[in-house]
Amino acid sequence: MDLKEIRAEYLQDELDIKDLDSNPINQLQQWFNEALDSEILYPNAANLCTVDANNFPHSRIILIKDINDAGITFFTDYSSDKARNIEINPNVCLNIFWKEFDRQVRINGHVKKVDRKVSEQYFQSRPKESQISATASSQSNRVDKEHLIKKVNELNKKYEHQNILPCPEDWGGYILAYNEFEFWQGRPSRLHDRFKYKFDNSKWDIYRVAP
Ligand SMILES: Cc1cc2nc3c(=O)[nH]c(=O)nc-3n(C[C@H](O)[C@H](O)[C@H](O)COP(=O)(O)O)c2cc1C
Repeated sequence: MDLKEIRAEYLQDELDIKDLDSNPINQLQQWFNEALDSEILYPNAANLCTVDANNFPHSRIILIKDINDAGITFFTDYSSDKARNIEINPNVCLNIFWKEFDRQVRINGHVKKVDRKVSEQYFQSRPKESQISATASSQSNRVDKEHLIKKVNELNKKYEHQNILPCPEDWGGYILAYNEFEFWQGRPSRLHDRFKYKFDNSKWDIYRVAP
């Protein structure tokens, strides 16, 4: 199959500066709500990019769990590679692609850990099996499958009679405080609509950029 022959026409919608909310968080919420209402798979999946000690970027999918004026929250393992990157350099970018809408949102900012209470609350709201797996796994570190399964079995036994586990010290959330946004709407003939929001002089500056 010749990949060069794959061509999509982006016909879904258009985006004009007059349609955009003056606050990018509201604009993001609006697009998010449309994605949620459409019942597409993984509406809250986003690609998170971090940078390591040698300035190499690394990206992976995470799930967005909250959006508000303070930032975007996601949860992970504080012993993972991404957490090690964040420890050195808290500047990250997030990319959301809603292919069913021909939409992309890019967000730059910096992250910090959420309050411990927020992590505990979310951890303990997860299904017991997920709590067990997260407790057994030291994400991104080398592991033997047998060792992992043994740990899961031990935890299942230990917490046989309870549905809520203590949230591991090295598990929790990060909140991304926003610096810059880009909203992208695919358009016919590659004349896509792209708008940047940059925080300047204590207000959001919004402008169109070339496709
Ligand atoms: C659909 C999807 C959702 C995911 N959600 C999360 C998540 O919310 N948190 C997380 O730590 N990893 C999540 N992952 C796994 C990450 O992509 C990644 O494998 C893991 O976090 C380890 O990344 P790191 O080694 O770069 O730290 C998800 C993967 C996929 C494909």
